[in-house]
Order: sequence, then C-alpha cells, then structure tokens
Amino acid sequence: MADLGINIDHVATIRQARLGIEPEPVQAAAIAEQNGADQITIHLREDRRHIQERDLYILRETIQTRLNLEMAATIEMIRIARNVKPDTVTLVPENREELTTEGGLKLIKTHKKQINELKEVGIEVSVFIEPDPDMILMAKDIGADAVEIHTGKYANLKDKIEIEKELKRIYEAAKIIKETGMRIVAGHGLNYHNIQKLVEMNIFEEYNIGHSILARAVFTGLAEAVYEMKMLINS
Ligand code: PXP
Repeated sequence: MADLGINIDHVATIRQARLGIEPEPVQAAAIAEQNGADQITIHLREDRRHIQERDLYILRETIQTRLNLEMAATIEMIRIARNVKPDTVTLVPENREELTTEGGLKLIKTHKKQINELKEVGIEVSVFIEPDPDMILMAKDIGADAVEIHTGKYANLKDKIEIEKELKRIYEAAKIIKETGMRIVAGHGLNYHNIQKLVEMNIFEEYNIGHSILARAVFTGLAEAVYEMKMLINS
C-alpha cells in the first residue's frame, strides 16, 4: 500500500485568477481527505502565484492527515516552515519564470544547514531530485529523511524506448534510496495512465499528484455544476 498526497495548488490557481475567495483550498483539502488522501501537499512559492501564506496557516489548523509543504530552501521559507511546522517539508528548486517545478534540486553540501534547521523543530525533510545515484547519496549524507524522485521527464516522454530507459533509471534510483533507509516518494506529471508503470515497481511509499487529479475533477464535476445553475435560473 502506498500513500497518496494530493497537491491542491491549482485550486488556489483558480481562486487567484479572480483574486477572490473561491474555490477555497481548505475545502478541497477536506474533500481529498474524506476520499482517501493520506496527505495534502502545497507549494508556497516566492511569487505567491497560487497558495498564499494564509492557506498554509489555515491548512495547518484543519488538516487531519499530514501536511507536506513544498518550498525553496531560502531564508524566508525556512523561517515560515519553522513557524508553521508542516509534517514534511519537500525542498524543491524554484525559478520565477517556470510554469511548474522544472528539474530536480541540485543538492549541495550546504543544504545540510537548512535540513538541520527544519529537522531541529521536528519536521521531516524530503528532497525533490532527479533519479540520480550521486544526488541520492548526497541526500543521505546531508540528512534528508525522504527522497521524492522527479518523474516529470518520464511523464513527458513520448518514445517507447526512451520511456523504458527512464523507468529503469527511476527503478534503479528507488532501489538505492531503499538501501539508504530513506522514504521513497514519486511525483510530478503523474496521471491516470503513466502511474501504472510506477505502481508495478511496487517500491514507492508515496505519490504526490496534483494537476491530473484537478484536471479530472473539472469534468467529473462539470455536469452537476451546470445542472445546478440551470435549476436556479428556472426555479
Ligand atoms: N511533487 C513536487 C515536488 C512538485 O513540485 C509538484 C508540482 O508542484 C508535484 C509533486 C505535483 O505535480 P503535478 O501537479 O504535475 O501532479
């Protein structure tokens, strides 16, 4: 059995499109939890393009499963995390121009300081990296508790041979993570089709998935939403 972390950033993306109060990410988190999510994941970005600090504070109060905060390893974010104390912090690279997180974090020895500052207050630290053996050993060396393998490359590939090659790279990386004793997580670009090959590996303890679940929710919910408005107009 693997855990499912639901990334609800894009509920906030829709809200921020009008700078209003709906849809409310906190409500999305509750529905996700009531339907089997084991964790709620959010990314508080430096530019605050979707999740706001207010969301983080309310989610910390209301989530009944676990809160996983994705963030850059900056002084500002470490301060916020130490204050809010999510269950897990996932350190990710961040670049203002990107549409979404591009590539894994390039871990360096000095990340040890930030990892320690988070662990010191009881936060589990995960690092979001490419399936690269050297990066995994570095993660262990500097004290990470978990590794989230960036599955974005796998998700974007079209060529069957390239896909098989990337899957092999991911599996080999997952085995190394297992040997180190760190928790094995996968995330980014996963959807209802490409998840299957990872599930078959039977090695991941957790998946963090956002966009594809929110994209599907638009259509599973659209019929009812239209029907409700039609009823209001004609009542
Ligand atoms: N894991 C990490 C570390 C991420 O940065 C993201 C995107 O915010 C995800 C998982 C979820 O990716 P997606 O929205 O493509 O499912």
